[in-house]
Amino acid sequence: MKISVAGTGYVGLVTGVCLAEYGHTVTCVDIDERKVALMESGISPIYEPGLEELMNKNMERLHFTTDYGRAYEDADVIFIGVGTPEKQDGSANLTYVYGVAEEIAASIKKDCVVVVKSTVPIGTNDKIEEVIKSNLQHDVNVYVASNPEFLSQGSAVKDTLNTSRIVIGVEEEFAGSVLQEVYKDFNAPIVVTNRKSAEMIKYASNDFLALKISFINEIANLCEIIGADIEDVAHGMGFDKRIGDKFLNAGIGYGGSCFPKDTKALHWLANFHDYELKTVKAAIDVNENQKLKLIKKSRKYYESLKGLNIAVLGLTFKPGTDDLREAPTLVNIPLMVEDGANVRAWDPVGIENFKKLHPKSVTYCASIEETLQNADICFIFTEWDEVKAFDLNKYSELMKHPIVIDGRNCYQLSDVKKAKIVYDSIGRETIQQVETSFV
Ligand code: UDX
Repeated sequence: MKISVAGTGYVGLVTGVCLAEYGHTVTCVDIDERKVALMESGISPIYEPGLEELMNKNMERLHFTTDYGRAYEDADVIFIGVGTPEKQDGSANLTYVYGVAEEIAASIKKDCVVVVKSTVPIGTNDKIEEVIKSNLQHDVNVYVASNPEFLSQGSAVKDTLNTSRIVIGVEEEFAGSVLQEVYKDFNAPIVVTNRKSAEMIKYASNDFLALKISFINEIANLCEIIGADIEDVAHGMGFDKRIGDKFLNAGIGYGGSCFPKDTKALHWLANFHDYELKTVKAAIDVNENQKLKLIKKSRKYYESLKGLNIAVLGLTFKPGTDDLREAPTLVNIPLMVEDGANVRAWDPVGIENFKKLHPKSVTYCASIEETLQNADICFIFTEWDEVKAFDLNKYSELMKHPIVIDGRNCYQLSDVKKAKIVYDSIGRETIQQVETSFV
């Protein structure tokens, strides 16, 4: 079976590489010549644990090209894995997806199954089919299938190789049987349904997880007010299998390329059909507020951030990725700079991407120690292992005023109590082991 994949971002490249690992010959297509050259020489253009190794392991079955015509003309299956970024109004921007659909229509010379992996609004697969069929240059049959991915950044390869389920949305049996053949060596349950339901499974799954995070964040906020401990509360809730113990970590809100975009897109779609998705709207609103929680907490210690030396630990939206999309730091650091603070930041892999967005306003540091030097306050935005393993005594040794505001609950309170710091985290008691009379 000849497989081509359009797009070599997180979805496209991981899909292509994992299909090659399961024995398929795959051609990955991207318009960016620089990226294609990198991949041809065995370098992954994105940071994703295990991806480059798997790519190099399967190089004989993997091809990279900018020549979409040749990649699509005789493919049996073409996966679309290009981005669907969020538009100003919250809806999904489908320009890239429709662009690929037109390229496929212009190129294919034999019957093929077009598989939509990109997260697209419900009903888009029908439109993709229309676009392809109305632009076909040859007399061939095209079958469009929805096959959403459920990978998380940072564990994308693992999630794809050991996916929890394979969802196949088709309107005719043929496309379903081709996809079952593609996935025959994957060890996962296969759900075959119609296209709209497959599209909805993806959105409903992501929005439910976003809702779970916003829910636990609200409970955390209430825990702070009434004096309960969110870690114990979540631990106690998680034993109920109906609730589950995953995605109950309170923090400063969800970021990334999926939850913010997919919650807004489904909400937008519902509105478009005159229906208000109230729970999803609540998840979005709670998340917007939660992102600003650390700066709000800092007001307990400093009236203003003006003139303060601020240490920022972690820039990315979560550990294990250099991705900054919708990272809480993108809203918070500009606010700190606007307030007149001197911001010093550390991140093990995210600095280069952050620099492209905020080249001059931040001082970037090579280590946590360097970042904390002489700081008046420290904000933890990402729970990197390096932060979690950091010696708590060093905060007081290095900082001018050891106030640590932890947006990811990186430390056990019992450990914090042994250090000479002020420690304010999410949904837990504030630990004050030193005076803040300097404030
Ligand atoms: C997510 C989904 O998990 C994945 O199934 C889907 O295909 C794409 O979207 P991803 O965005 O890579 O994956 O990251 P994920 O690990 O889900 O985290 C998303 C955000 O939620 C991060 O900002 C993370 O910090 C936050 N989060 C997650 C919490 O705040 N608390 C949690 O308990 C879990």
